[in-house]
Amino acid sequence: MDSHLANALLDELYTAFGQHSGRRVSHAKELMVFGSFRPTNAAGQLSTAWHLSSPDASVLVRFSNFSGIPTTPDTAPEASPRGIAVRFHQPGQPSTDVVAHTYDGFPAATPEEFLEFLEFLQATNASTTGQRTDALTDYLNRHPAARAFVETPPDPDTPYLHQRYYGVNTFVLIDQDDVGTPGRYRVQPVGTSADKSTDQPGLHSEQPQHNEDSDPDVRRHELEASLARGPSYLDLVFQLAAPDDDLLHGSTSWPHTGPDRRPEVVLGTLRLEAVVDDSLELNLAFDPTRVPAGIRASPDPMLATRAAVYARSYRRRHAATADPEVSSPAQPNPSTSPKSLGEKS
Ligand code: HEM
Repeated sequence: MDSHLANALLDELYTAFGQHSGRRVSHAKELMVFGSFRPTNAAGQLSTAWHLSSPDASVLVRFSNFSGIPTTPDTAPEASPRGIAVRFHQPGQPSTDVVAHTYDGFPAATPEEFLEFLEFLQATNASTTGQRTDALTDYLNRHPAARAFVETPPDPDTPYLHQRYYGVNTFVLIDQDDVGTPGRYRVQPVGTSADKSTDQPGLHSEQPQHNEDSDPDVRRHELEASLARGPSYLDLVFQLAAPDDDLLHGSTSWPHTGPDRRPEVVLGTLRLEAVVDDSLELNLAFDPTRVPAGIRASPDPMLATRAAVYARSYRRRHAATADPEVSSPAQPNPSTSPKSLGEKS
């Protein structure tokens, strides 16, 4: 992995958002929820991964806003795309993460192109949500992935539980005969997969609140209110690649509606139970390439770069020398001890 590239990407993000002690340089504002995961039978047939065949995985789900400024209001355009990070954990099993966001793609096909985009925005003082300058128009004409991203309206008004979160990069599920199935993760409201519906409650349990202008934390408050009434549910879906699909670049969406839509499999359902009170104290670092036996990260170079950048980001935000894998949270909540979350203490 090119450490110069990883550092340069991180530096650009810090330049864009500034340093906010202990907070992520992007997706800074967070809301974490405890829960559990129940896999479908289809998941166990596609992969031998422990959490896709055992009914007992606990999960920690981190919802986030895109902005690296923790005070960005939930309703600001920079809050979008939203993020979701899911940590599956169980004593005696290696923890594993899924990280996704609400944009079906990415503004750059490769990490190098993403760096170029960030450098361009910085050099021209342009913003993806602000006034369109001639320089930005010219850049977007030459970079279709960036253009598609900028021209997709932000969606900060949809509650966390009504969103679809796209995994973007490709993973390979490996079954007991060592046969691999490439595809992309998606997390979405229960029963909304085109191919299969699960009969679970919770689809509309998180009602949008209406005091959006006055409440910068409206997304948190509506989710808290929903969970106070009972658990909510989200499906984990795997969109299967078609034979000619590009597995190395996540910037382009694969159709999920219409005649070319790719088949998809509901891997299971996340049950969200309660908000974590002091989530920052958990000091967690998610990593989409943290996969157990039965799953392989594709060779999409963005995945290796993300793993390197996220680990560096963790170290920088905590100004610590520890690697996230060996870090120990300060004063953990007993039900989220490092061991129970799969972190080594
Ligand atoms: C080269 C490409 C990318 C770079 C450089 C990058 C950079 C970062 C950084 C620095 C963080 C903060 C990590 C931390 O401090 O723990 C982060 C978090 C995040 N990124 Fe990316 N990212 C990239 C691609 C993506 C893609 C493709 C997605 C969507 C699938 C994505 C979704 C997220 C989400 C949801 C978070 C928050 C994770 C959490 O809750 O801990 N990123 N990204």
